[in-house]
Amino acid sequence: DVSTVLLTLAYLAASVLFILSLRGLSSPETSRRGNLRGVLGMVIAVAATLSVAGAWGLALTAVLIGGVIGTVMALRVPMTSMPEMVALLHSFVGLAAVLVGFASYLGHADFGDGRTIHLVEVYLAVLIGAVTFTGSVVAFLKLKGTLGGKPLLLPARHLLNLALLGLCVWLGTLFVPAAGSTGLGALCLATVIALALGWHLVAAIGGADMPVVVSLLNSYSGWTASAAGFMLSNDLLIVTGALVGSSGAILSYIMCRAMNRSILNVAFGGFGAAPPAGAAAGAGGQAGSAAEVIEARAAGTAASLAAARRVIIVPGYGMAVARAQHAVREVTELLRVRGIDVRFAVHPVAGRLPGHMNVLLAEAAVPYDIVLEMDEIDADFPRTDVVLVIGANDIVNPAAQDDPSSPIHGMPVLEVWKAKEVFMLKRSRAAGYAGIDNPLYYRENTRMLFGDALQSMQALVRELQGAPELQPA
Ligand code: TAP
Repeated sequence: DVSTVLLTLAYLAASVLFILSLRGLSSPETSRRGNLRGVLGMVIAVAATLSVAGAWGLALTAVLIGGVIGTVMALRVPMTSMPEMVALLHSFVGLAAVLVGFASYLGHADFGDGRTIHLVEVYLAVLIGAVTFTGSVVAFLKLKGTLGGKPLLLPARHLLNLALLGLCVWLGTLFVPAAGSTGLGALCLATVIALALGWHLVAAIGGADMPVVVSLLNSYSGWTASAAGFMLSNDLLIVTGALVGSSGAILSYIMCRAMNRSILNVAFGGFGAAPPAGAAAGAGGQAGSAAEVIEARAAGTAASLAAARRVIIVPGYGMAVARAQHAVREVTELLRVRGIDVRFAVHPVAGRLPGHMNVLLAEAAVPYDIVLEMDEIDADFPRTDVVLVIGANDIVNPAAQDDPSSPIHGMPVLEVWKAKEVFMLKRSRAAGYAGIDNPLYYRENTRMLFGDALQSMQALVRELQGAPELQPA
């Protein structure tokens, strides 16, 4: 009838908008448009679903309450806590799938012809949802620091996982043909096992891998939604779930490649169990040897910048923590009016989430055309006079190339040390995310400008604006 046709058309339009949204999100210039398309698609999807659903009032109330909580959370979350918030949101997807699965099972005494298929769908949606739920909760707690970052390494943990999975499969063979309380009992038991499995899978992964895990869980939450779509015979949910599932998987792969790790190595955990050699030295602020660093002051840094012809800025996590992006843009402008060529080099895993630096620089209105990816700019360091490394550490660590014993050996890094002069802006000699010392501090062409990145950048702004000898001719 007409309403089914209209519903199908609305779902089709929403699916197309979601695909266009993903396409838009793939570049900073089009990301706003992409986001808007996603919002529009979601409005169409929700409106179309509500128009055929019975309980209008109830659904709208739920949307309203959820919408208010979500808006408040999104407005309040600092950019650096974004991975946590995303992990928490994934856990809701998992929990919803479990609840809808149970409701669907309990609500139908008899499923008619498609009984077996429907029960398999219910079972899968509940299991994947349960794994996603506890996995995301553990990821959230680890990122928040409530749970320690050290991986939980039980003896024979891979066998344990396999046994839990085997148990779920076996319970499934009981669940599908069973009726009444036996079926419900099997489903409940399988849910508990899947909850334990999700917890254990993520507990075994070290804190340093959490951003990749969040992206993996993003993928799981997509597959959960897809499974729920099959269960509810909802085409849109199937398509949307598949889009989220595959884009999350692709993103996880890209992140792993940028860190020179295999996805299996991340997903099955154990990495970072023993603190990497040199971690203590890094964190303690002293290198193993009596190596000395050369300190710089803001005035000297500004003078070097003003005298340079080509400058590359490498932003990292510390720029995000210090919220220094606006001051960074001011320095960029002050240098550009002097005719100095200033560009940004963005490493694929700079910061703590994909695109972290691009978002911050875009927020500060740094022009897109001077923000380059690692591959586009890495060859230019030897022709560069000054590199400003702002709160970045692991992504510029030469040990990734020179030291086969380094835990990050093989990770692609920005070769900043090939420039004439490197200024590192950070608060101390402390290590970065990987917890390892950085030989770059001790190179003869490296200068350390110690201090909070925002204060250092503001000092540079003052120097460049104030000192007459630094003014453009
Ligand atoms: P890090 O290696 O973590 O280094 C950040 C540095 O910023 C720290 O050494 C810290 O030194 C400094 N810092 C912190 N607060 C600061 C402040 N207020 N002012 C100035 N400096 C400050 O960051 P990175 O170079 O961006 O590398 C990213 C790391 O995250 C890599 O190890 C990467 O593998 C990992 N990771 C990233 C992702 C994604 S998707 N981005 C995913 C997984 C893992 P001080 O304490 O001395 O100031």
